[in-house]
Amino acid sequence: MANLSNYDAFIVLISYLRVLNMGYHHAHVNVSGPNYYGDHLLLQRLYEDESGIAEIDGIMEKTKANFAEPVSFGRVLMHVQNLYDKYELEQTLDSADPDSMFTILLKIEKDLQAYLTTMINSIGENAVFGADTEGILNLIQDTADKHQTNIYLIQQRLG
Ligand SMILES: [Fe+2]
Repeated sequence: MANLSNYDAFIVLISYLRVLNMGYHHAHVNVSGPNYYGDHLLLQRLYEDESGIAEIDGIMEKTKANFAEPVSFGRVLMHVQNLYDKYELEQTLDSADPDSMFTILLKIEKDLQAYLTTMINSIGENAVFGADTEGILNLIQDTADKHQTNIYLIQQRLG
């Protein structure tokens, strides 16, 4: 089992959440087609409410509280770029095609679920956060639960 209880693991998590938040927002603006208005509103719900800035803020503040390093803007940006390249987001989110947008966003959400499961297992096995371990586990589980809603919403859209 990979150890995902360290600082870098939290930086990658923040980067996943940034990519999804920005991805939903860019898709919201760029989407077109016969379902335009429904898609535009669903994507707004995803970037504003389901996976908004408040969620990212919660993870960032937990990261700052539990590691002796600042939450590095540069390292988050680097990982955001890695994810942008890995998922070939230029070809999808800059297009106007809703199906390719929702399909790649669903793929990222599913990969995030796998990542969160590995994080939870690592943190549980290592208990590296002392008294705060339970709070961190709860926060990450809560993040996973919220993103299951996103998966449900996108799967409903894709049919
Ligand atoms: Fe808007």
